[in-house]
Amino acid sequence: MTTVAIAGSTGSIGTQTLEVVAAEPDRYQVVALGAGGGNVDLLVAQAHAVGPAVVAVAEATHLDELKVRLPPCELRVGEEGLASLGAEAEVCVNGVVGFAGLAVTLAALGAGRRLALANKESLIAGGPVVARARAATGAELVPVDSEHCAVHQCLRAMAPDGPDRVARIVLTASGGPFRGRSRAELAGVSVDDALAHPTWSMGPKITVDSSTLMNKGLEVIEAHELFGVDYDRIEVVVHPQSVVHSMVEFTDGATVAQLSLPDMRLPIGYALAWPDRIGTPFGRIDWSRLSRLDFQPPDHDAFPSLGLAYEAGRVGGTVPAWLNAANEVAVAAFLDRAISWISIPDVVAAALDRHDGSPADSADEVIAADRRAREETRRLIERWP
Ligand SMILES: NC(=O)c1ccc[n+]([C@@H]2O[C@H](COP(=O)([O-])OP(=O)(O)OC[C@H]3O[C@@H](n4cnc5c(N)ncnc54)[C@H](OP(=O)(O)O)[C@@H]3O)[C@@H](O)[C@H]2O)c1
Repeated sequence: MTTVAIAGSTGSIGTQTLEVVAAEPDRYQVVALGAGGGNVDLLVAQAHAVGPAVVAVAEATHLDELKVRLPPCELRVGEEGLASLGAEAEVCVNGVVGFAGLAVTLAALGAGRRLALANKESLIAGGPVVARARAATGAELVPVDSEHCAVHQCLRAMAPDGPDRVARIVLTASGGPFRGRSRAELAGVSVDDALAHPTWSMGPKITVDSSTLMNKGLEVIEAHELFGVDYDRIEVVVHPQSVVHSMVEFTDGATVAQLSLPDMRLPIGYALAWPDRIGTPFGRIDWSRLSRLDFQPPDHDAFPSLGLAYEAGRVGGTVPAWLNAANEVAVAAFLDRAISWISIPDVVAAALDRHDGSPADSADEVIAADRRAREETRRLIERWP
């Protein structure tokens, strides 16, 4: 039995992780669950279903209720309590949303545990710090993001001594709900429009990021951090069917792609089982019905967030942390209906103009950069037209 800790168990990734574990009951045992702490009913139901030794919540708001309703277990509270899940099991699935996931990422890697990483924000904001934590313990980091899981699988086609044989990584993007619309046509889109993703059912923050293509921009930085490939060799192509999850082209022109139905339980299962595979398929491609696969270039004019992410990644230091923080604040403001959808990249660009040149040499520097970027972005939004 492989022991599993799930940080962010009440979210889209967390609940799907529990489905994968339930499909392979002889193989995985969930020993720890953790979440923000707002969704008490679901967390309590999950704890009764899997009987974890530890439950952690980031916020103490519903602590008294949790103490009464949880089955016997150790209850941990606060950012540190949640982060402690990183060291609690052989594999830690980090499905926390946003920068709050950094502490879990660093704790898992620091303890030398395998990290099944869905929380891309920790890698984007803290890339150099996460890289050092990985190197210090040699901990495995297996990506859960479907595109990076695909690249991880494609790279298996390469001899272990040939990392310089990668010509380029091609990340696929569904294009989100606004694919094909011009900038002018996007001026009045609503929160409901942005949350109506055509292919993936995900949490609200990543769904909005998918609609602006910031999600793909964050994934470009994620690919750079995970696979050490420079930005000139990471490309994005829009692929509406979301069947090709990404591709790697090698120096001889051969391209290896990973194809499967769009279902996050495949990459979650891959990260749990690596280097093996789980035995349960969550859907199979019916080749007799898959009549076409379309690919087209992204529209940088309608979706400027993608270009912002490339720029931030190329500069490095704490610029990606600022990009991520400004985007989190701008997306939250959009979901609160305080700014329009079309303002999101403009707010992020204005925040990046205020970047203070600080380095990203330690976790404390990254955390301070994240805080300053959030303050700047909130100030910008207060005065936003
Ligand atoms: N969903 C997908 O298909 C998908 C695909 C690829 C990558 N990802 C990545 O996976 C991560 C999670 O996405 P999601 O769609 O699963 O999000 P989600 O459905 O919104 O779930 C977020 C989870 O994080 C917890 N959380 C929120 N704020 C927290 C905090 N301050 N401290 C600790 N935990 C907190 C939530 O707990 P409460 O319920 O208590 O608020 C919930 O368990 C994101 O980084 C996303 O980019 C997701």
